[in-house]
This record gives sequence, structure tokens and C-alpha cells, in this order.
Amino acid sequence: MEANPESCQNTGDVRFGRRGFLKGMLLACGAAGISPETGSRSVSAAGVPDGARETGVEYLDYPVKGLDCSLSRQITVAVVGAGGRGSTYARYAERFPAAMKIVAVSDINPYRRKRMASAHGIPADRQFGDFHEILAAGRTADAMVIALPDNLHYEPAMAAMAQGYDLILEKPMAQTEQECLDLLKRQRETGSIVGVCHVLRYAPYFQALKSAIDDGLIGDVVSVQHMEPIEYAHMAHSYVRGNWHDSKATTPIILAKSCHDLDIIKWFVGKKCEEVSAEGSLMLFKEANAPAGAPARCTDGCPHEATCPFSALDIYVTKRQHMHVFDLPNGYTDEDVVEKLRTTDYGRCVFRCKNDQCDHYVTTLRFEGGATAAFSMEAFTPWGGRRTRVMGTKGFIEGDGRSFTAYDFRTGRKRVWDRKVAEIAEYKGSGHGGGDLALVRDFLTAVDKRDESFLTSSLAASVESHIMGFACEKSRLSGVKAKVQLEIVPPCI
Ligand SMILES: NC(=O)c1ccc[n+]([C@@H]2O[C@H](COP(=O)([O-])OP(=O)(O)OC[C@H]3O[C@@H](n4cnc5c(N)ncnc54)[C@H](O)[C@@H]3O)[C@@H](O)[C@H]2O)c1
Repeated sequence: MEANPESCQNTGDVRFGRRGFLKGMLLACGAAGISPETGSRSVSAAGVPDGARETGVEYLDYPVKGLDCSLSRQITVAVVGAGGRGSTYARYAERFPAAMKIVAVSDINPYRRKRMASAHGIPADRQFGDFHEILAAGRTADAMVIALPDNLHYEPAMAAMAQGYDLILEKPMAQTEQECLDLLKRQRETGSIVGVCHVLRYAPYFQALKSAIDDGLIGDVVSVQHMEPIEYAHMAHSYVRGNWHDSKATTPIILAKSCHDLDIIKWFVGKKCEEVSAEGSLMLFKEANAPAGAPARCTDGCPHEATCPFSALDIYVTKRQHMHVFDLPNGYTDEDVVEKLRTTDYGRCVFRCKNDQCDHYVTTLRFEGGATAAFSMEAFTPWGGRRTRVMGTKGFIEGDGRSFTAYDFRTGRKRVWDRKVAEIAEYKGSGHGGGDLALVRDFLTAVDKRDESFLTSSLAASVESHIMGFACEKSRLSGVKAKVQLEIVPPCI
């Protein structure tokens, strides 16, 4: 997971859509004597220690919504897939029990199923194995979280909408363009509220960046440069050894990993994407690159273990990264972790896995009206997160996933957004810079009010960015530019 705590400040400014957000801003700006047009001021913001702020720097004070939501009733939720993502979203119910209650769980892994059941007091007759079982039981809750592996999103999502569920649906929503369109059609027939887990859209950092663009701080967007640094060990963990190593069993990495990024770029530009081109390949993680004498597993006495950056012993035993994949109820003792490395794919030599995902992938995107974007997904970086530059007709924004600076060409003003999510108690532990739990907040609000506009990652918006991903892969494989046929997305109701 690319957990990347971003900066932000809790103003407790909750329960509203875009109009309420702007109204809140005007009030906040008025009280602080700052410009409502720019949201900037040159003094430290409330709640952020003065010492954390440079004098002489103007700060952007886009307010950050609190994570709680005030609803007319408690929304009941069934979690299907109680692994990493299902558990993340379920955590909202632990933090804000008045708003959300987990009442049913489905997971074929008994340890994870029981863990979720005991954390939420789920009765035995509401604990299911395979997802077909929970669907066969009829509707068990107001809403369902579908956090199954990539190849198991389409079937349960189609069936659950037909049963009247609202959905938190993990990305990628489906494995083909046609399935994405089917999901959209089904949603329009049933009226289900569906929030696709493009969680970056809900992170305070990305929300502030989007607000800066929409508020005209840099004029009109001409182009975007966006990079997704995966981080070398995360690449090895997820896309070489782990769940997403096989692009056919899951989805190509441009969707499996980077549908977030295509989605964010499109959101920033605010126009339809018309055409893409892509290049990329798997260069390093293949048999031909295995160093001489490297055995099948890092635990088999590999002569290169001490120098290999992808050593499983180094990543899991020494650095204790990505430990949540090991179901070890009694804690992560070295012995137990090493045993997992001996018996699961996480101990395999990275050059001897059955992986095919690209380890570098670059795309260019052209939008309606001529704006362009360049996107790079890179495995070989020391850090994760995102890096973004937005070039506008009147200014420029540069951000690193935690803070960004907006430059104004004419005045030379530099304005910085650098709120610290980690300093907000409510946001502690909410992954993706706070986006994970903020998505749940907005989803529950949308369900309570029967108003999809509380969600920015609607199914329709997400189908568009998925179709961009499928087009990128077509281009990469064919070597020619690919049209993005968004006209096949049925018009919004
Ligand atoms: N939004 C994001 O930022 C983000 C981040 C990581 C993963 N994901 C996506 O979320 C989804 C889940 O990923 P994860 O990391 O939680 O994986 P995971 O392996 O931790 O969890 C998936 C769970 O589904 C269960 N499962 C598998 N088959 C099942 C079946 N037939 N019936 C019931 N349960 C079944 C597994 O036992 C497992 O516990 C994937 O599609 C992944 O691509 C999204």
C-alpha cells in the first residue's frame, strides 16, 4: 500500500458538497482576514504550530473536512473480502459507530473472517465463506464493501446491485471495458449508490490541489506531469511476488496500480481524454536476470542475499515491511515470518517468480481542447507516493504528495499548502493521505441522503478513467496511439 500521510488541518468542516465547501472557505477566510479568492494568508494557520511555518511564506488554507459524518441513521454494511482493504474501510465503523455498523462478513480465509467478526460482533449466521454464499443469503445490510481480488469484483458487484445494495467497490472495478460498462448500466437501472475506491480523490492534499486548480490560481491547465513512484520493495512485494504479479489474472499494472493516477490526472484537467500512447516493459524481474547461483528462495542460502535490494529476508524480517499479508495471530516473530518466506510466494527470488507486470510504464495523454499529460509509473525509486506538476496559463503548481506550491507568473507570488494529516488525531492511520476513511465518510453521506454527488469517485467518473487505462494498454501492446472512446460511456442520468 502506498500509505502516504499528507499534510492537512482539521477544521471540523463536515457534511457538505462543493457548495458547502466553498461557503465554509468564505467563512474561514473572513474570520482570518484572508483572501477568499485565493484562500492564502501569510501567518500560521490555526492548529499548526508556528514553528512549523516559515516566515515570509504565504500558506494556502483550504479547509480539511473532519472524518465524522452526521447521518439521519446508522448505515449497516457487509464486508466482502476481509483482507487489507476490507479491514481498512471497516475501521470507520470502529471510529464512528453511530454512522456505520459492520453486520456481515464474507471471506474464504477463516482467520480473516473471524478477525472481522470478532472486531465487529458479527453473529455466526452472518459470517460467510465464498462471496456466493453471502449473495445467496439475500440482502444482509444497506451497503456492501467489495474488497475481493481484482478478478472477483464484477460478478458480486452486478449481483449485489440487483439485490439493492449500495457499494463501496474496490478498483479496478472490473477486468474489461465491457464489464465496466455493464456495471454502469446496472447501476443506472438499480439506482445504487456506488463509490469506486479511487481514494486519492478524497485525500486532503489532492482535494486542496484540485481546489487550487478550480479556483484559477494557475489559469487554465495546459499540461500535467505526474509520476507514481512505486518504490522498489513495494514493487517486489505486490507486483513481482504478490497478489498482482500476473496481469492476466488481475489487470495490467496501468490499471492494477495506476488507475488512481489516470483518474487524478483526468480530474485535474477536467476534460475528456481523447487519445493516449504508452510504452513500458518488464526489464528486471525475470529469470534471465537471476544472478549466478541464486536459488528459488531467499531463504535457501542465496549467495547474493546480503547485497540484493529485493531480499525477502531484508524486506520482511529486518525491515518488517508489508507484514499484514502474513496471517500470524500471535505476532510476527522472526521464526514465524521466516517460515512464511519458506512456504509462500513472498520468499521467492524476484527473478524466479511467474510475474509479467511492467516495471516501468510511461504514457502521454491528450485531452479535449489540446491539454496534455505525461505520466510515469516507476518501480525503481526509494520512496512511494506521488509527484505532480501542473502547468497553467497563469502559473504553475508543483507537489510531492504531502505539500504543494502554487506559483503566479505575473506577481511572482508563491503559495504553499502543507497541512499535516498526521497532526490530526482523527486522521491517524487513515491510509492514502486520509483518503481511505474520507471515502467512507462521503459514501455513507451519499447513502444516507440518496445523493451520489457527495462522492467524487462515482461509477461514471471511474469508468472513464478505467477506459483510459485499457486504451493505454492497447497502445503499449500495439505500439500505436489509441483513441479513448468515452462516447461509449452512456450519458449521466
Ligand atoms: N484503493 C486502493 O488504493 C487499493 C489498494 C490496494 C488494493 N486495492 C484493491 O483492493 C482489492 C483487495 O485488495 P487487498 O489488498 O485487500 O487484498 P487481500 O488479499 O488482502 O484481500 C482480499 C480478500 O478476499 C478474500 N477472498 C478471495 N477470494 C474470495 C472469495 N471467493 N470469496 C470471499 N472472499 C474471498 C481473500 O481471502 C482476502 O482476505 C483488490 O482488488 C486490490 O487491487 C485497492
